[in-house]
Amino acid sequence: MQVTYSGAVIAAPPVPVVVLISGAGSNLAALLSAARRPGAPFAVVGVVADVEAPGLDHAREAGIPTRVIALADHPDRAAWDEALAAAVRELAPRLVVLAGFMRIVGAPLLDAFGGRIINTHPALLPSFPGAHGVRDALAYGVRITGASVIEIDAGIDTGRILAQRAVEVLPEDTESSLHERIKAVERDMLVEVVEDLTTGT
Ligand code: GRF
Repeated sequence: MQVTYSGAVIAAPPVPVVVLISGAGSNLAALLSAARRPGAPFAVVGVVADVEAPGLDHAREAGIPTRVIALADHPDRAAWDEALAAAVRELAPRLVVLAGFMRIVGAPLLDAFGGRIINTHPALLPSFPGAHGVRDALAYGVRITGASVIEIDAGIDTGRILAQRAVEVLPEDTESSLHERIKAVERDMLVEVVEDLTTGT
């Protein structure tokens, strides 16, 4: 919402974004650093994880609220899905970013934020969807792979593609060396997509 005085915009609060993670949080760190830039169009208002992810430290250091919604703390998957959606809803984001969140999100989150949830994936979708995009691309023997940012729908990595970047596979690559090079382009791309989606909204 913009605040105007005599027709002039005097305050345009940044768009609230919630980030979901499961791992190291390098994509989260890139988003936090972009959000700190003067005039950034978005602010990270909370980080939610499904495990005590190391990446939560990036948020804690930045003084941003964090929540862990662990499957093991809930009687079943449906209860976890409801708890996850409730935790995100409490933070009132306009955009939800899955940045290395290693679980499929269920109907409660999709119903609450449909069309406003994006995911980053370390392969050129629709090739190599699922939890092992880097390993699968390497095993297949592709020479070019990369990263994709997609809109989330009810399928596994099937949503509309918003952006993609290519990365060359080198003969000496291991899963981890290739993933590191993918992550370097992935985080820049993710920041650009989030800035685009939150600019002028
Ligand atoms: C990213 O490559 C993401 O696409 C994949 O896991 C990685 C997460 O990295 N699902 P990080 O936790 O942001 O460092």
